Amino acid sequence: MLLLGIESSCDETAAAVVEDGKRILSNCVASQIEIHRKYGGVVPELASRHHLENIVPIVNAALNEARVEKEAIDAIAVTQGPGLVGSLLVGVNYAKALSYSLKRPLLAVNHIEGHIYSVPLQLACDEVKNQTTDPGWDLLFPALALVASGGHTSLFFVKQIYGRAKEPASYELVGRTRDDAAGEAFDKVAKLLHLGYPGGPVIDRLATRGDPFAVDFPATRMSNSKLDFSFSGIKTAVLRYAKSNLSNELNALAVHRNKQDVLDHLPQSIYDVVASFQRTAVESLFSNTMRAAEVRQPRSIMVSGGVACNTYLRTRFREGFQKKQTPVHFPSPALSTDNAAMIAAAGNAKFHQREFSDLGLNADVNLRLG
Ligand code: KG4
Ligand code: ZN
Repeated sequence: MLLLGIESSCDETAAAVVEDGKRILSNCVASQIEIHRKYGGVVPELASRHHLENIVPIVNAALNEARVEKEAIDAIAVTQGPGLVGSLLVGVNYAKALSYSLKRPLLAVNHIEGHIYSVPLQLACDEVKNQTTDPGWDLLFPALALVASGGHTSLFFVKQIYGRAKEPASYELVGRTRDDAAGEAFDKVAKLLHLGYPGGPVIDRLATRGDPFAVDFPATRMSNSKLDFSFSGIKTAVLRYAKSNLSNELNALAVHRNKQDVLDHLPQSIYDVVASFQRTAVESLFSNTMRAAEVRQPRSIMVSGGVACNTYLRTRFREGFQKKQTPVHFPSPALSTDNAAMIAAAGNAKFHQREFSDLGLNADVNLRLG
């Protein structure tokens, strides 16, 4: 069965063709990073305008790359929310128009559920590549799924997802951010240190040159027993530290904003701050996940969303959970950041549950999961 996935919740216009929820025939993304870079963050009005320009070419690119005609598509899955309203509406309306004209079912997917599906999708792709016959999927659940991106930071206890078991999917929210998302903190810290946008990849790279224990930034821990996250305190601590200790270095850097050659020759003190911030932010994600794992005893940990690309985070989680002998699974970087293959994979499961949407489908900015 061929599914066309469409994703436009934030600043990436994406389309993908996925066969049987596990073979990615194409996964195309039109990134708007260059457009938003000069503003240091996503400008919603510009994002929706560019989605409008990109949606038709990106869907055509996905069909061409997959070498399938529109008519060969069995169903269309689209991100319904959460996200930016103007951005979501472009994908939802285009998917509805396609569903109507091709007479194919429409499947509404929660963007966060899409991120969670990126992990089983990755494992399925690996199985197909390695020609493994026993997928061993059932051994993944119950799982703890951390979704950490520019817009969301949530931890779910996932008893089961659709697709393998007969039971319906079950997501229990065990922790979420009270303020900034983890990726947002990376982006804001990079902005205040004049390192460019998006912050995650540049901080990841520069942190390898610094001492992660050079500066002791306080990690926020909730006073009650909840496993919620908070990242605005770390960001403010970096801001205060930078103002008191790095003002000359940052004034010099401000003039050379975003220049690669300058980033490779920064004062050691900046690399140290970057590495220390990254360690603190990752530690907060890790420690809450570990605390949840102590109580829930999951069979696996799944980490997805753009922040899952972070190399320090991958090592910390893998090494940290090794002691508990709990496997940690990450999608590839292309499946970690926003993409439509994960939306098609989640849509495929919904197809089998016969959870179809009709043409009355509307974008839902605050769509919840769990
Ligand atoms: O999943 P995503 O593409 O979009 C949202 O759903 O938000 O995530 C984008 C976020 C950005 O905040 C970006 O800075 C962060 O993911 N990110 C990273 C890395 N790569 C992307 N954060 C930390 N380390 C990275 N290597
Ligand atoms: Zn996302």
